[in-house]
Amino acid sequence: MKKLWGGRFTQGAAKSVEAFTQSISFDKRLAFYDIAGSTAHAKMLAKQGIITQKEAKEIITGLNKIKKQIILSTFDFKVELEDIHMNIESALTEMYPDSGRKLHTARSRNDQVALDLRLYLRDVTKNIIELIKNFQNILVDISEKHLNTIMPGYTHLQRAQPVLLAHHLLAYVEMFQRDRERLSDCLKRVNTLPLGACAMSGTTLNIDRDYVAKELKFARISENSMDAVSDRDFVIEFISHCSIIMMHLSRMAEELVLWSTGEFSFIEISDAYTTGSSIMPQKKNPDVAELIRGKTGRVYGALMSILTIMKALPLTYNRDMQEDKIPLFDTCDTVSASLQIINEMFHHINFNAMRLRETASSGFSLATDLAEYLVRKGIPFRAAHEITGNIVKYCVELDETLEKIPLSVFKSFSDSIEEDVYQCLNLDDAVNNKNSRGGTSMNEVQKQIQRFKKLLRMR
Ligand code: ARG
Repeated sequence: MKKLWGGRFTQGAAKSVEAFTQSISFDKRLAFYDIAGSTAHAKMLAKQGIITQKEAKEIITGLNKIKKQIILSTFDFKVELEDIHMNIESALTEMYPDSGRKLHTARSRNDQVALDLRLYLRDVTKNIIELIKNFQNILVDISEKHLNTIMPGYTHLQRAQPVLLAHHLLAYVEMFQRDRERLSDCLKRVNTLPLGACAMSGTTLNIDRDYVAKELKFARISENSMDAVSDRDFVIEFISHCSIIMMHLSRMAEELVLWSTGEFSFIEISDAYTTGSSIMPQKKNPDVAELIRGKTGRVYGALMSILTIMKALPLTYNRDMQEDKIPLFDTCDTVSASLQIINEMFHHINFNAMRLRETASSGFSLATDLAEYLVRKGIPFRAAHEITGNIVKYCVELDETLEKIPLSVFKSFSDSIEEDVYQCLNLDDAVNNKNSRGGTSMNEVQKQIQRFKKLLRMR
């Protein structure tokens, strides 16, 4: 097959080289973006009088035909043509030899591939932002339904203090809010037009980059042609934000795995979202959550991959950069699929409110409340901490719980303890008295639910 760049060559590339250097097997997913970019480029060339209106029309008709063929899966992607850009241009040139050969005027694959990647990533980023938003919505809904459900909060995976289940879930909503903000910010830099940088130094032809930017809805235009073709910061940024998203999802997945064990029994995941064991008939495994946790490793790997690909590249474009697509596409697919499935799965998780409450009240989870009670009675916190510690030790030895201790015994630990101590040892009150801003009281949690409802209504 004659190459579009074959002029200075007397010999074709070896088959092995073609196979090694091709990117069509993975960059074909850029096809529609490539067509959109070429369409805008052709319109601009005609508007500037670089090609005729008739030629532009032919080019656009040809591109539309190719688009249809790709949709109908009748387009023949050829490895010999290396990548999506050459495949499309070659097919166009076969249809309309004269005008087709003019499309690549004032353009290079270097700015073309940067353009395609940015167009693709712009769509994917918006889509992931939406998926995160949907998930936040589900979590806020569940929080609202469980406003009365108390659970143990943990530090060091040891029961620490009782909290509302809603408070726990809303902690994730906060994380996902930051994720959305990071992606929206990244989108500003993705949304920059590189086309017009040509190979690396611009062009002598009278092009109109503002026009192309408008056609393709780019908010900005790259201001340095060398940077435009060699920049992949936006890919690195995107994948690093995705790594953080996956880290959040993985922490949540880990909790779902723990919570669904017989030992915790905090949740039940419905059958449709679990899998059985091929040997142990009694098992119901939280594989979806485990795989989300596992796939996090893939995305971290992608981040290492792109950082390493870029780290020693001299300006400007180098073929190494073709390898950017593999980690990028895999990240897009993995993050989207993980968000989609966790969105779905949360509709099929049952929280065992009784069990959560029971666990929250055991294990001296109100000891801090007792210490704070003593502080309110005028005892310095350190002393209050020690007195409470002694009381807990006493309870452990006698296998007793705090709220069962008679007042006379309390008094033997501290004279300041009075009848009202039992109020602070009540689970619901203990939670609801955590009224400091951002605390777990129902009042504060409700405020957060309202805040998020408003935020999620906005774009
Ligand atoms: N397939 C290439 C890539 O993905 C397109 C750019 C090729 N440019 C070049 N000068 N060989 O990066």
